[in-house]
Amino acid sequence: MGYDMIELTTDGAVATIKLDRPKALNALNSEMMAEVATALAKLEADDTIGCVILTGSEKAFAAGADIKEMADNEYLDIYKNDMFEANHCAIERFRKPIIAAVSGYALGGGCEIAMMCDFIIAAETAKFGQPEINLGVMPGIGGTQRLVRAVGKAKAMDMCLTGRMMDAQEALSSNLVSRVVPLDNLMETAQEAAAKIAAQSQPIAMMTKEAVNASFEMTLAQGIRFERRLFQSMFTTQDQKEGMAAFSEKRKPHFKNK
Ligand code: CAA
Repeated sequence: MGYDMIELTTDGAVATIKLDRPKALNALNSEMMAEVATALAKLEADDTIGCVILTGSEKAFAAGADIKEMADNEYLDIYKNDMFEANHCAIERFRKPIIAAVSGYALGGGCEIAMMCDFIIAAETAKFGQPEINLGVMPGIGGTQRLVRAVGKAKAMDMCLTGRMMDAQEALSSNLVSRVVPLDNLMETAQEAAAKIAAQSQPIAMMTKEAVNASFEMTLAQGIRFERRLFQSMFTTQDQKEGMAAFSEKRKPHFKNK
């Protein structure tokens, strides 16, 4: 299938989805997000893909939900359609590892979809923000929830109530992003991290992601029990046998995703 608003490329076991609506700074309109959801469904079903990178342009990862598209919406329509659930939230439902590579603006929905990814690698030029309050609304794709969990209440309140932007260094020191790199190294760094993940056992990487994400939903005791059971279940896989044998034999493991 051809896409109009995204570019989907693959390099070995790594797929890259590039948001590609540069004139609108990658504002997330419904067509673009439907394409993202379609691409993710395809990549999830494709056993040859082990990790995905979500990225944008140099100037904008994404400057938010499309304000012009949503400005005239009426409550009952967007309530009935459950606005954002079907397509934007496909990123949070994606079960394989997904990395956000962010350069330029990641504002509003842009910051929110970056936070739905498993981690964010930022270029020095990245700017994060939840400026929805300037539009007479508030974040609507998880910003008030995920930002608190990432940066804590004080900073999340500051961002959501003042609408100010956070630069890449502040995002790093606030734990919103895992790494900051020069712009020229952004995609290379993301590709390297993604290739490393994709070389692991795919089901084990998926279970690891599931366990880390469960920490947001469960009490500590429930989370530890969940982790323990998943860990124990890994001993049913050929990849556990291979990984541990390779260590003892001082060689690289060859995982079969089994
Ligand atoms: N929606 C629709 N169009 C957008 C957009 C958005 N979120 N962000 C930028 N654009 C469009 C602009 O309207 C402009 O289009 P035209 O050339 O047709 O006028 C084009 O992209 C370029 O933008 P600017 O001329 O404004 O570029 P700039 O460099 O001067 O400013 C900016 C950049 C500071 C990011 C500015 O564009 C801006 O403030 N954008 C809006 C940011 C925002 O408020 N995001 C939150 C959206 S609401 C949301 O996301 C809700 C939610 O949680 C679900």
